[in-house]
Amino acid sequence: QDPEAAALDFRNRIKHYEKIGGDADLSPRGHQYAQKLPDLVRQSVGGDRPLTWKALDELDAGVCDGMTYQEIKDVYPEDFVARDEDKYNYRYRGGESYRDVVIRLEPIIMELERSEDILIVTHQAILRCIYAYFMKKDQSRSPWMNVPLHCLIKLTPRAYGTDEERYQADI
Ligand code: G3H
Repeated sequence: QDPEAAALDFRNRIKHYEKIGGDADLSPRGHQYAQKLPDLVRQSVGGDRPLTWKALDELDAGVCDGMTYQEIKDVYPEDFVARDEDKYNYRYRGGESYRDVVIRLEPIIMELERSEDILIVTHQAILRCIYAYFMKKDQSRSPWMNVPLHCLIKLTPRAYGTDEERYQADI
């Protein structure tokens, strides 16, 4: 492949990764993380009873699903600004807000409260809301919570707060 075609191919792949929402395939780093995850789980909790919960789906970006942030800015500039100004309450056209996600997570949170040693694999927006709940943070701040990719976060509820440990995959 000539250098120009390779550069174009690279830009297209990067552009794909910047898209929000949807049920995108794993990126090459996502595949690497999936390979490392069992080891991280063994280090942290153990256990092996997988369940799929629809309520853990990604925040629904409505008409913006599958677009990059730059595309949203170009096509829906007012929405882009509105979301920046109030990310917790902003609801995507035909989609959801973080506030909506918090409401749909309520049954899941109740289930988690009753359970022990649970591993949750889901999307960043959803993890932010679950993290905020267990860390007793104001939910309106959840859209800015630091939940990095390729990282397993272990939360252990204690009598006076929640202990937190992070296991970053070496990829
Ligand atoms: O893909 C979207 C992430 O889960 C959260 O993105 O910071 O725009 O809400 P956001």
